[in-house]
Amino acid sequence: MSNTVKVQPDLKFVKELQAVGGDSLKKCYQCATCSVVCPLSPADNPYPRKEMVWAQWGLKDRLVNDIDIWLCHNCGTCSDLCPRGAKPGDLLSALRNMAYRNLGPLPIIGKWMSSSAGILPLAAIPAILYGIIWVVMAGKVGSFLPRFEFVDHAWKPVQEGGQIAFGGLFPGDYTIDPVFMLVFAFMLWAFFTGVRNMIKAFDSQPKTFIVGRKSAPTMLQALIDTFQYEILQHTQFNDCNDADADELDVKRAKGHRWLMFSFIALMIVTGVVATGHWGGWLLRTLGIESLGAIVSAIGHTPMPFYHPIKMLALVGAGLGVYGLIALTKRRVNLDAAKQSSSWYDWYLITLVWVIFGTGIGALVFRVVGAGILAYPTYYVHLIAVFMMLAYLPWSKLGHLVYRTVALSYAKKIGRIPMGADK
Ligand code: HEM
Ligand code: SF4
Ligand code: SF4
Repeated sequence: MSNTVKVQPDLKFVKELQAVGGDSLKKCYQCATCSVVCPLSPADNPYPRKEMVWAQWGLKDRLVNDIDIWLCHNCGTCSDLCPRGAKPGDLLSALRNMAYRNLGPLPIIGKWMSSSAGILPLAAIPAILYGIIWVVMAGKVGSFLPRFEFVDHAWKPVQEGGQIAFGGLFPGDYTIDPVFMLVFAFMLWAFFTGVRNMIKAFDSQPKTFIVGRKSAPTMLQALIDTFQYEILQHTQFNDCNDADADELDVKRAKGHRWLMFSFIALMIVTGVVATGHWGGWLLRTLGIESLGAIVSAIGHTPMPFYHPIKMLALVGAGLGVYGLIALTKRRVNLDAAKQSSSWYDWYLITLVWVIFGTGIGALVFRVVGAGILAYPTYYVHLIAVFMMLAYLPWSKLGHLVYRTVALSYAKKIGRIPMGADK
């Protein structure tokens, strides 16, 4: 007597998947072209055809625990060559979007992040918070668009002359810094929960015994390998192109690398400014006045253009804009019949544009002394940076942690080779 296999499709899940970008999956007739042409898929148990089948059958458990969705680098080669226009690359993207929504805590943020309607509450939280700070400080310094002079390590409002100083209206010490420290801690907590859930999900899956594999790397060795090859060198990202990839596809990996380095440069700048400010304060409080003054001076803002940290910030911003142009151009030029962009894709690209645009805009308006433009631009900048950091684990940018963990895990279990073994 043959065994009967009961398939219990989760139809709600299929609908949800279609809503976050997997809307063409019903067209697939399982020819497997996609798995054959994918430049990254392993020969053994390849993706993305199997995910198309699982998705059509509504096999939620298989899909949400599937590590392969993180191995795909979204080049779209499979979708370009799919004879049915079933967009398998979009399905894997949609599954990652579902993971951003469900891996971490506080599902309400995931829900808001998943559609354009949710942008209102997401933006309202920082807009109200910084709006209150602006109103309270305006009352204190006597103007919504004040001018300042820097006296005794502090900004003093002046009626005549002076300069625009964002730190005078939004003081770092008791407004910006504590808010961002809390936001950062919140983000780390959300990632911690999400990564723990992700690893639990991967652990629940059966592992393949790899013939000829002498020893498995530890998770730490796999993480270091991922940093070296997948992050610094972008090895798989560079491989994620078909033979006749056009110029925009090739520039995708380059654009991504520059954007990533730009974020790293801007993080170093923020670190130096914060350390200079708080380190200087600490040294002065401890009575080490002269060293405290030097450390404070290193992180004092606004910095002159010849200051090395200012130069790093400008180079970082330039690289970021270059990377963003490459990524945006490619997305705008995608052939919609073969590959689509979801809300998650546009939310991230637009938010990064707003951060760079308002960051550069606030700098220019401040330098030319246009307070009426400088302060509102800086206000929008603060809102956008808050939105990026606070909601990072639920947004597509969550990939910077989730993908790193998944790629490392895949190396550990031998699903993909360590960099040097390729
Ligand atoms: C600060 C760090 C990072 C930034 C700012 C960043 C930014 C971005 C952006 C804006 C995109 C969207 C491109 C598009 O829509 O076409 C993207 C996609 C991608 N990123 Fe990153 N990324 C970062 C870190 C990482 C890391 C650490 C990895 C790998 C471990 C990675 C791998 C990828 C891959 C494979 C894609 C394409 C997949 C997709 O579009 O879903 N990124 N990244
Ligand atoms: S997604 Fe397209 S290429 Fe892949 S199996 Fe289905 S029909 Fe074939
Ligand atoms: S989008 Fe690229 S990497 Fe992802 S499955 Fe398709 S061909 Fe493979």
